[in-house]
Amino acid sequence: ERVIVLAGGMSYEREVSLSSGRRVADALKQAGLQVEIREADAALLPLLMEDPPDLVFPVLHGAEGEDGAVREVLGLLGVPYVGARPDACRLAWDKPTAKAVFRQAGLTTPESVTLPKTVFHDLGAGAVMKAVLDRLGLPLFVKPTRGGSALGASVVRDAAELPAAMIGCFSYGDVALIERFIAGTEVAVSVLEIEGEPTALPAVEIVPLGESYDYTARYIAGQTEFITPARLSPEITERVRETALAAHHALGLRHLSRSDLIVDPDGVPQLLEVNVAPGMTETSLLPLALHASGLTISQILTSL
Ligand code: DAL
Ligand code: MG
Repeated sequence: ERVIVLAGGMSYEREVSLSSGRRVADALKQAGLQVEIREADAALLPLLMEDPPDLVFPVLHGAEGEDGAVREVLGLLGVPYVGARPDACRLAWDKPTAKAVFRQAGLTTPESVTLPKTVFHDLGAGAVMKAVLDRLGLPLFVKPTRGGSALGASVVRDAAELPAAMIGCFSYGDVALIERFIAGTEVAVSVLEIEGEPTALPAVEIVPLGESYDYTARYIAGQTEFITPARLSPEITERVRETALAAHHALGLRHLSRSDLIVDPDGVPQLLEVNVAPGMTETSLLPLALHASGLTISQILTSL
């Protein structure tokens, strides 16, 4: 079997994707598949048409990988691929849309406002800040509505920090999602289809050793402590597992996903987002969860 792993891309997460792509390619090679890593660029189209592989495994993070565009092309060309279809990607990729889907499915997600850069500039920072603080209070979490790896994301504990957080956010995207910050246990739950059945892997608890689980804390080994399974009661462990499966289902995802959540002080899993192209790097959460389950990444990715 010949597989093309798509990695790299033009998003801010290019380096992360290259690292994820190498890991996936190695895992598939170990299982005896013939694997090539390629960029999703113009040269890919003639290649897919003239010499189509048996399968494409997209490991692109950021817009190309997660907004469904590349998968739309694969679908048009009739090339089978691993992961969610374009319509489901579009729901998951835009965080406010995903949050609306979660609420409709009876799942809990932090209260938030969505704020385009143009509105921020037109109304002026002062008026916007007041409206946001009146509505949500403090602390807050600010991030681009579309993006990943915590780029442009920051915690706001004091009102004076809000303008800088907004500007940081707008350097990575044109629309900000401002959420009420939930203090609690941060966990990630990966869902994989194992023998055709979506299965939640053990929750991985994230304990950043610095201020927050930012880009450095994600990708520099030793900057975050990961505890698997997460230190949650059996009842809350089950609730978290069910939430991840329900989110995967509500968004109409396929094959694999990773839900990021915070368990609040009342034990309620507050869904932050679901990733359709979860990181596969040495410090990423899905591979950690597989390892903790005694599953080999080679076995599982090949079965997908
Ligand atoms: N966006 C990164 C790759 C992740 O979700 O793991
Ligand atoms: Mg993400």
